[in-house]
Amino acid sequence: MGIRILGTGSFVPDRVVENEEFTRYVDTSDEWIVKHSGISRRRIHDGANFEMAVAAAGRALESAGLSPLDIDLILCTTVTSDYASPSLACIVQGRIGAENALALDINAACAGFVFGLDMARLYLHDGMRRVLLISSEKLSQITNYADRSTCVLFGDGAGAVVLEKSDRPFAAAFGADGTGAHTLFARFPENEVPFVRTRSTASCDGFPEAKPGTLYMDGQKVYKFAVTAMPKAVREACAKYGIEPAALDWLIPHQANIRIIQTANSALKFPMEKTICNIAERANSSSACIPIALDEAVRDGRIRRGQTLCAVGFGAGLVYGGAVFEY
Ligand code: ACO
Repeated sequence: MGIRILGTGSFVPDRVVENEEFTRYVDTSDEWIVKHSGISRRRIHDGANFEMAVAAAGRALESAGLSPLDIDLILCTTVTSDYASPSLACIVQGRIGAENALALDINAACAGFVFGLDMARLYLHDGMRRVLLISSEKLSQITNYADRSTCVLFGDGAGAVVLEKSDRPFAAAFGADGTGAHTLFARFPENEVPFVRTRSTASCDGFPEAKPGTLYMDGQKVYKFAVTAMPKAVREACAKYGIEPAALDWLIPHQANIRIIQTANSALKFPMEKTICNIAERANSSSACIPIALDEAVRDGRIRRGQTLCAVGFGAGLVYGGAVFEY
């Protein structure tokens, strides 16, 4: 038993940052960034994450023809919430006036939207009528702009979908490997506690030293994980759905690196022409990548009703997930 997407929406900030702008801060070039990642520019938000989430949610509700009062549950996926507490979902619930909705956040890093789809499906089949799933990320908040190997990769944005239950099939495959947790992380700045000698989490848990509050990534290890996990997730989700990957109308992958997408596609023998890619313009906005790409492709007419889609993501954890469903 599956889900039906009633409406999609997204928000990308106005401020466009071209690759060239990074040459002012780090030793890099437009040529290197395009060649190694496929990214030409990204959007950066001058404001709070919840503003983007609220904007994307409003557009998804509008396209579904629904009011915030029609929503029973708001699920937000984010690794860049404005507050450690309360949840981003509660802030959005209050801002849009979704008085009837419960609200909670999910952290499954860049695979958050895919995990969110499956969690929404479970709640819907447990009796909730409509779920608003929002993935909203302000990666600029945790990007270390002195680290050239990561800072060029990320952007900000939000995507959202309104979901109800459907009797159409849905299949998902997920995995987690916490032994890779130290390859991709951002830890909180340490608090000074008067009663204890504050120990660095880096020295006590085997994670490498990294600037607190910013993202650390062992790019090559994450790359290797990604090019294995992405095809695995697609194959497993398609097998549960009862189709070969070739039968998919569209693949919507996490937009981390065009080379990861191309390598995963070639392992699957899946054509790039049926793969939704906006990485050149949008860069990596973690869990927001997939719903932004989905919304853009719905609005420009590439994705149409009745088509079979596979959303696939991977990220910090390390985690991965793939979901196959009908649009
Ligand atoms: N400009 C110029 N040179 C650079 C830059 C840059 N921006 N960044 C790194 N380099 C240099 C390195 O220092 C290195 O130099 P050296 O050989 O003198 O040591 C050289 O380029 C090659 O570095 P590699 O790390 O081998 O480059 P690679 O081709 O592997 O690309 C990249 C690096 C793009 C980070 C790649 O490993 C990658 O995409 N990894 C996965 C990223 C990812 O998927 N992240 C997703 C999860 S994160 C999230 O979603 C929140």
